[in-house]
Amino acid sequence: MNLSRGVSATKCKIITIANQKGGVGKTTTAMNLGVALARRGLRVLLVDSDPQANLTSYLGVTPGQPPYESLATLDEIYLSKRPLDAEARSRFICPTPAGVDLIAADKNLSSVEYYLFTRPDRESVLARFFMSISSKYDFILVDTPPSLNLLTLNALCGSNHVLIPVQPEFFSLEGIVKIRAAIEDIRARWNPTLSILGVVATQVSNRRKLTGEVLEMLRAELGDLFFSSLIHDSSAVTESSGHAKSVLEYDRSSRGAKDYQTLCDELLERCGITQAGITSTLMPGEVPVEATS
Ligand SMILES: Nc1ncnc2c1ncn2[C@@H]1O[C@H](COP(=O)(O)OP(=O)(O)OP(=O)(O)O)[C@@H](O)[C@H]1O
Ligand SMILES: [Mg+2]
Repeated sequence: MNLSRGVSATKCKIITIANQKGGVGKTTTAMNLGVALARRGLRVLLVDSDPQANLTSYLGVTPGQPPYESLATLDEIYLSKRPLDAEARSRFICPTPAGVDLIAADKNLSSVEYYLFTRPDRESVLARFFMSISSKYDFILVDTPPSLNLLTLNALCGSNHVLIPVQPEFFSLEGIVKIRAAIEDIRARWNPTLSILGVVATQVSNRRKLTGEVLEMLRAELGDLFFSSLIHDSSAVTESSGHAKSVLEYDRSSRGAKDYQTLCDELLERCGITQAGITSTLMPGEVPVEATS
């Protein structure tokens, strides 16, 4: 069942996916959670706010190359001197076969920080852009670089929520303490409504001896902030990025696909969006997994 009618009455949820530690699954979570939400009939925009442009590649988009010659990239929002009209804004929106829209990044995004330092409104550029487009979406998910830099600050100032992926390691708690302190600072100075939606453990491997202990520690320290859904290590997830497909499209019977759907359900619950009546998470033309060999 399509959830979009139920959601459109409420405000668009803007969620920044952040952790200053590299390789913890931020991009993978933005992609697969975004596609899982779109499969619930929700209108989803993914924003690649990382100069590495991994999310853009994961979606198979190459700005400047056919058929994306006229696609504008995120850096141009930061460089634009005046508010963008509707036609200019539409140049940034790239519909994708995965069912989500994308605002793409390329390496030019890395020079934006230098330019931003001289702007008096340096922390609120993205927030203003989001205000002009948020009525078109139920969810906007922003992927950020492994750093609490000005790009991440812009994402956090323009968001309602933060989702923090972590790898289950003993040092992961230290990273969470740091990002929580940054969020408190942002709440106090710029965005009082920013809240942590939760911390999600990714790349969980039951083969590693310490995993269970670390998960227990995270649960004990974080309480309700810790998502009960876990994203396990799944080769289908790694392979899916090489095929420029979400794991839900690449192998929807894989553990990775199931984990991201479970996380999607828990996230909807946390956002207060009822799932009563959902019967299908399939794209048009797909048959249920049970019906396939
Ligand atoms: N559940 C998973 N199972 C297996 N591999 C995974 C899983 N999640 C992520 N990976 C792999 O781990 C690597 C890092 O993931 P990802 O790029 O999402 O992290 P990141 O936090 O966005 O990194 P960065 O900080 O560099 O942006 C990638 O090669 C990805 O394919
Ligand atoms: Mg990334």
